[in-house]
Amino acid sequence: MSASSAPAQPRRFVAKGALTGRIRVPGDKSISHRSIMLGALAVGETRVTGLLEGEDVLATAAAMRAMGATIERQADGDWLVAGVGVGGLLQPAGALDMGNSGTSTRLLLGLVASHAITAAFIGDASLSKRPMGRVITPLGQMGATFTTYPGGRLPLIITGAETPVPITYRLPVASAQVKSAVLLAGLNTPGATTVIEPVPTRDHSERMLRGFGADLSVETDAEGARVISLSGQPELRPQAITVPGDPSSAAFFVVAALIVPGSDLLIENVGLNPTRAALFDVLRLMGGQITEVNQREVGGEPVADLHVRASALHGITVDPAVVPAMVDEFPVLFVAAALAEGRTVTSGLEELRVKESDRITAMRVALTLAGARVEETADGMIIDGSGGRLLAGTGNGAVATHLDHRIAMAMAVAGLASETGVTVDDTRPIATSFPLFERLLADTGAA
Ligand code: S3P
Repeated sequence: MSASSAPAQPRRFVAKGALTGRIRVPGDKSISHRSIMLGALAVGETRVTGLLEGEDVLATAAAMRAMGATIERQADGDWLVAGVGVGGLLQPAGALDMGNSGTSTRLLLGLVASHAITAAFIGDASLSKRPMGRVITPLGQMGATFTTYPGGRLPLIITGAETPVPITYRLPVASAQVKSAVLLAGLNTPGATTVIEPVPTRDHSERMLRGFGADLSVETDAEGARVISLSGQPELRPQAITVPGDPSSAAFFVVAALIVPGSDLLIENVGLNPTRAALFDVLRLMGGQITEVNQREVGGEPVADLHVRASALHGITVDPAVVPAMVDEFPVLFVAAALAEGRTVTSGLEELRVKESDRITAMRVALTLAGARVEETADGMIIDGSGGRLLAGTGNGAVATHLDHRIAMAMAVAGLASETGVTVDDTRPIATSFPLFERLLADTGAA
């Protein structure tokens, strides 16, 4: 059941004990979305092992089914995707329900933009507040037309271009979703579609497009920007994909193990693509003991097991250049900083205000309630840590998560380092990205 239709599930998270043993986090959300989408555009059958079975990815799968692909879970847990071929998407009979998922919405708008079909996109209250203008602008230049709610928001209707036009598009915001939307639209566009990326963002789309046999080049221009060019209308070849564990999910367990005294935890199979893994470097700079063992490659992505031990953290100034490589990890970094010795300063976080919630304000309010000393700035947060002492909030009232899975999980972690515990007003959104989060937390002995 999606977060918007079930009753809210408040939950209290309290300190219990150290995190120990070994756990495995679920598949990477970004890679899972892309494996379904590209599998659905290949000719033949793609097998996906380790797909994240979270609500966001299931929304992508449902939409691709509604546009003609056959997508089935096998008894062994693998997923089989039988594609329609580039250019073969069918007009969906009803509205495509994106639930809470911005990635599904923006990437699928890209796919539809170069098919001569009309599709309606709807989503939950959180998604309906998020800006879509950032993809509407380039996709409109390629020939798609849109009718949106005021402010360029969902619900919206897109009609794809009958004769799509290739463009060269320079990203005005560092966004892998916008980059991917344009590249995916380029798949069914004749000629070369080019995206110029001044600041590198996660490169899963590029890696996977190549894996499926698309002709894609990446160069660096005189100013150091990445220039990504895709030749349109390739025949995509079906693949066998193994999805590595999601570093953005591992992040909650890494921080929990660092801040709960006595913890010693092995987190297996964590994707460490350099465009995703900056949190672990930042935590090491703060004194976190995180070592990578059994380094290997899975599905064309670097992977390792992370061995994490409880550590005395100290505050730092986080270089804004690393923001794109840990854009989803700031809520839980703020929690680590709240337990560190001294001051942590973050900046360059404007994009956090347009995620599933305004993550700067939501975390400022939540951490203040939990007893942390934090100050919100226009583009970041300043945190004066407790120096390892348990957070001492009043224990009254529940943290508002605003339908944001990462606020819920970050504050659950804060609860493990709190005298009075932290009550999260609604844990349902966690199922969008990490359905077994609470069970895994219990498995480590921490909750
Ligand atoms: C994602 C890109 C990021 C990230 C999101 C997933 C992706 O969004 O926050 O969780 O899979 O491409 P932006 O492109 O808005 O930065």
